[in-house]
Amino acid sequence: MGWKTLDDMELSGKRVLVRVDINVPVENGVVSDATRIARIVPTVRDILAKGGKPILIAHFGRPKGKVVPGLSLRVTVPALEKALGCKVRLIETLEGAENLTEEARAADVLLLENIRFHPGEEANDPEFAARLAGLGDIYCNDAFSAAHRAHASTEALAHLLPACAGRLMQAELEALEAALGAPKRPVVAVVGGAKVSTKLDLLGNLVAKVDTLVIGGGMANTFLAAMGLDVGRSLCERDMAGTAREIMARAGAAGCAILLPADVVVARELARGAPCEVVGAHACPSDAMILDAGPQAVARITAAFDAARTLIWNGPLGAFEVAPFDAATNAAARHAAALTQAGRLISVAGGGDTVAALNRAGAAEGFSYISTAGGAFLEWMEGKELPGVKALEGA
Ligand code: 3PG
Repeated sequence: MGWKTLDDMELSGKRVLVRVDINVPVENGVVSDATRIARIVPTVRDILAKGGKPILIAHFGRPKGKVVPGLSLRVTVPALEKALGCKVRLIETLEGAENLTEEARAADVLLLENIRFHPGEEANDPEFAARLAGLGDIYCNDAFSAAHRAHASTEALAHLLPACAGRLMQAELEALEAALGAPKRPVVAVVGGAKVSTKLDLLGNLVAKVDTLVIGGGMANTFLAAMGLDVGRSLCERDMAGTAREIMARAGAAGCAILLPADVVVARELARGAPCEVVGAHACPSDAMILDAGPQAVARITAAFDAARTLIWNGPLGAFEVAPFDAATNAAARHAAALTQAGRLISVAGGGDTVAALNRAGAAEGFSYISTAGGAFLEWMEGKELPGVKALEGA
């Protein structure tokens, strides 16, 4: 790994600009899921323990270079103080950060207001980055989940100050390297979710790298239809049939086995507790929708997990938000968690829906690593270079 960590930096008496991702969900003015906040705690604590002054830089939503009061990071301060167990002070303007008051100096941790209020952030503007660099002595990037953005605080800053990865960035990169960089084989990947069209690059990269690719969710319907099966009223991208066949051909050439559901759960409506039945994948009634993988499919998936040493998971296998169509996702996720806990599997999962599905299944705790990233995790799985990581490698 070509980047430095906090262990390589002399932090005593230094102002440390820490890029974090605390782009967290908020309901009624309160942080409703503090996972991302909890995950930056080791980095901030380490900096404090080594005598450094953490100055957090973060974005919140997409204000597009303008001050949007509803997207102030002030809402995160109570959750940050609770997680860190110390005083966090929000600095509203860059002028305020350049001329800190006595009170601000006394606070343990400073938090700059939403960095995307400034147009220079997303433009990766060198002048804006230089102004940010003037606020600190050291740059620490702990925002893997924003590393797919080439913005001033995720990319340019790494070239302007001595730079290192924070503990969360380090953990994410190490887990992903173990899953797809130099994994223990066989490797099985689960890719689910609604649409093939949003995961083309991902599928293309995975068939060249993994031994077994499990395709689930609405995406599986597109593949079944491409094989000539009738999928009734199921979610299905019929115009992607050629692409699906091409992916299957590439998988065959690369020696990657594709697992599509042999049986499926079908219903007339997607509603909680809707009447449903299990049929063979070739036997979906023309007025029904495929909403989950069936028990035979789950048995094949769990057998693939049994044979694997590494699992990488992105996307649910069925319409997991609506019971009983969460059954396949729950069963497969719990099996993966049990194998992981028994020391037989390294399991890494990421992406918004995925984490929600694994949490719902009560399986997330059992996985080796759950990424905090959505888009960045996908881009990394697609084999793309992440600008935030690349900038650290050059530092
Ligand atoms: C995320 O929530 O995935 C990250 O914070 C990145 O946010 P963005 O998609 O607005 O860049």
